[in-house]
Amino acid sequence: MRFEHVLVVGAGQMGGGIAQVVAASGRRVALHDEVPGAVERALAGMEKSLGKLAEKGGPTPEQVLPRVTPVGDIVGADLLIEAVVEDVSVKEAIFRRADEVLPADAILASNTSSIPITSLAAVTARPDKVIGMHFFNPVPVLKLVEVIRALQTSDETAAAIVALAEDLGKTPAQANDFPGFVSNRILMPFVNEAAYALMEGVAEAEAIDTIAKLGFAHPMGPLALADLIGLDTCVSIMDVLHEGLGDPKYAPCPLLRQYVAAGRLGRKSGRGFYDYA
Ligand code: CAA
Repeated sequence: MRFEHVLVVGAGQMGGGIAQVVAASGRRVALHDEVPGAVERALAGMEKSLGKLAEKGGPTPEQVLPRVTPVGDIVGADLLIEAVVEDVSVKEAIFRRADEVLPADAILASNTSSIPITSLAAVTARPDKVIGMHFFNPVPVLKLVEVIRALQTSDETAAAIVALAEDLGKTPAQANDFPGFVSNRILMPFVNEAAYALMEGVAEAEAIDTIAKLGFAHPMGPLALADLIGLDTCVSIMDVLHEGLGDPKYAPCPLLRQYVAAGRLGRKSGRGFYDYA
């Protein structure tokens, strides 16, 4: 399957990045978001990102952006990639509606970081065609796509999404549908332990991040990374790990919850562990 026409639902930092890489591969993208102004903000972000990539030989914004069409609702396409907020009822509503609107042979994929793909598949009449397609932020730069098979996902669906990820210039890695999959089961305890180290006064945020950057050769430290992901997103992923795996070691650090309650969500709100004002 070529997936010539892709519907991306959710135009936040992940959905915008996904729409960009799909359009840059030559495909047509319909981009939908319920939040007023979200699609326009995503298009502005794509223009900036494509501008940087064009300097390194990538396609220009003028070549790519005309392939992205803002749409006011869920529309027909060969493939849905859903990238909305990590809320199971919001995602299930989108999957139910997409199941009604998209042709019967279309694949329905979610970019979720943690919501079970198996339960999203179960709300549709095509559970064999539902799959996780998990990109990493910043999507235009990071090469990984974690491909997550629900219990019901067919071999054909998995093979088609692996081939698509490769065609987008990404490297797919397959995982089964367990809480947090592989990526967040590894990443979130790392972020959480860094938050505990800060809360307990073991070190300042800068020192914690410097240790990870220079000691383990990570491109950024866990606290700066949490700010990039969004502290609210980190907490909701940790809640899914905690509830789904039933182990208290996954419970979010109280400092993370406190920051979220105060509206310190990371880069997107201007302040998280660091101040971006
Ligand atoms: N579009 C295009 N180019 C971009 C870009 C974007 N959105 N963001 C960065 N770049 C480019 C920059 O232009 C720069 O290019 P040059 O080297 O040619 O100048 C290059 O990438 C590096 O960027 P910077 O110099 O600004 O800074 P950096 O070297 O620190 O890289 C980073 C920035 C790519 C974000 C890097 O720090 C990094 O990879 N960090 C780790 C990110 C990570 O772990 N992401 C995963 C989060 S988990 C997730 O997403 C999933 C989940 O489920 C929670």
